[in-house]
Amino acid sequence: MEQTVYIVSVVFTCLALLIIPVIFITRRLSVHLSFKNILRFIKLAASQLDNEEENDEKGGTMDEEEKRRRLPKHVAIILDGNRRWAEKRGLGTSEGHQAGARRLIENAKDCFAMGINTVSLFAFSTENWARPEDEVNGLMALFEKHLRSEMAFFRSDKIKISVIGNRTKISKSLLSLITEAEEATKSYEEKHLIIAIDYSGRFDILQACKSLAEKAKNGLIQVEDIDEDVMEKELMTNCSEFPNPDLLIRTSGEQRISNFFLWQSAYTELYFPNVLWPDFGEAEYLEALTCDEGTYVVGEEETPTGLLRELMPRHVAVIMDGNRRWAERAGLLTSQGHEAGAERLLEFAELCFKLGIETVSAFAFSTENWGRHKIEVKCLMSLFQRYLKSKIQFFQSEQIRVSVIGNLEKIPESLLGTIKETEEATKSYKPKHLILAIDYSGRSDILHACKSIVKKSQQGLIREEEVDETLFERELLTKCTEFPSPDLLIRTSGEQRISNFLLWQLAYTELFFSPVLWPDFDKDKVLEALISYQRRERRFGCRI
Ligand SMILES: *[C@@H]1O[C@H](CO)[C@@H](O)[C@H](O)[C@H]1NC(C)=O
Ligand SMILES: *[C@@H]1O[C@H](CO)[C@@H](O)[C@H](O)[C@H]1NC(C)=O
Repeated sequence: MEQTVYIVSVVFTCLALLIIPVIFITRRLSVHLSFKNILRFIKLAASQLDNEEENDEKGGTMDEEEKRRRLPKHVAIILDGNRRWAEKRGLGTSEGHQAGARRLIENAKDCFAMGINTVSLFAFSTENWARPEDEVNGLMALFEKHLRSEMAFFRSDKIKISVIGNRTKISKSLLSLITEAEEATKSYEEKHLIIAIDYSGRFDILQACKSLAEKAKNGLIQVEDIDEDVMEKELMTNCSEFPNPDLLIRTSGEQRISNFFLWQSAYTELYFPNVLWPDFGEAEYLEALTCDEGTYVVGEEETPTGLLRELMPRHVAVIMDGNRRWAERAGLLTSQGHEAGAERLLEFAELCFKLGIETVSAFAFSTENWGRHKIEVKCLMSLFQRYLKSKIQFFQSEQIRVSVIGNLEKIPESLLGTIKETEEATKSYKPKHLILAIDYSGRSDILHACKSIVKKSQQGLIREEEVDETLFERELLTKCTEFPSPDLLIRTSGEQRISNFLLWQLAYTELFFSPVLWPDFDKDKVLEALISYQRRERRFGCRI
């Protein structure tokens, strides 16, 4: 019954969460550099620091419009840790939730007043149905109660309410309340609260795909016309003017998306404070910032201390960021940076395989990268070609299977030939599998899968009701591996985004962000990432 308060606090506390960083900034704490990702947004939002800087530079103030323009439009929140917070204090769960809720109500107005347009909350995931029936019923009842009691607040503050997710299992009374809330607030535009109930990112993609299949069957749409815009109109976030969150916050230290927005999070800044939500105050914020995960000393032994073979991830994905900056710093050419990066990847993969990891996938070239300078693109293409050609023997002697995934439409003919040759020469090897993503985009992977399903359903090869996750995964480019969903994703050089790499596949992946530039991501750094991964599984250290 205590847990039933969960939903309430989810709704209420989320908004307060956004306020904390503002307090943080207005007090001008100086740790912002190490947290540039969140502060890039929040700092601009509060803009006190920025005003000072810009004043110095330009002798003027940033105008209101500029401030608003640079503010995140949509912030998504995965609220985590209320229950653990209460447990730690020997309190009932409900007390934990209520503490969070009180704080939120106080701050909610300020939050929207800051100019953030859309806040979305992961209130109840599709997986949550697996909880005990009592608990689920309690949660729903609680949600109902608070939706009712806050209706006046939503109205007076002109907050638009939308509920997204699968509604079929929601009780009649809750459903009618949701409809009422949505109806009563639908004309509001400036503040939008999206509550996800029985939602999952994969479910969202699947339902969009099914809907497109239906439309195609009825001749309402041609398969060729299905593009990202069409897809986005079918996703549940079509209720928002800003469907893609600029910032996603998850409290309590878990670094996962947990099947919340997937398609929508392609370019989202991710922020994972290592505190339980009710502790998300100023001092704890600072503490969270200094809880550095990258400080474990790793020995030289073959199987490093602290790493357990049985907890090894099976599939590690990597976004190799920082080659260019590395070259700049070293006074070298960009191409030399990329070459160092390519060598680093091989060392990385070898080490992973040695440790028992079976699949390594690397984001070598994104579809967006075509937009880079022509010369750099050309250099990269010829680097891939030379690299693959020169390593074929190595792959064979080490029995490493190589697959390349991506659109591959614009790839030069000669490189395409080399890719085929490499894949062919190594296709029988198992279990070491190196997947290179070249001209890859997570959204177009999903889009292609969806189009293929739409086509097959048009041809009567599959029925709509058969479309499920398994079937969908068979259409994704990662079908080439036995383990399409990475257990761990590493991104180097300090950015905290997925940048349209694997999206569907990352639903439950542990994320590890390192400030180190990719060519410097040596053995010790790899081991740090793996140790962090294993500690998360085991909930050691400063995680709570
Ligand atoms: C919504 O949930 C119901 C009940 O679990 C399920 O039968 C249905 O397939 C789901 N809807 C979609 C579009 O998946
Ligand atoms: C928005 O998406 C939902 C499904 O998620 C769909 O039922 C609805 O028709 C879409 N709305 C528009 C305007 O396309």
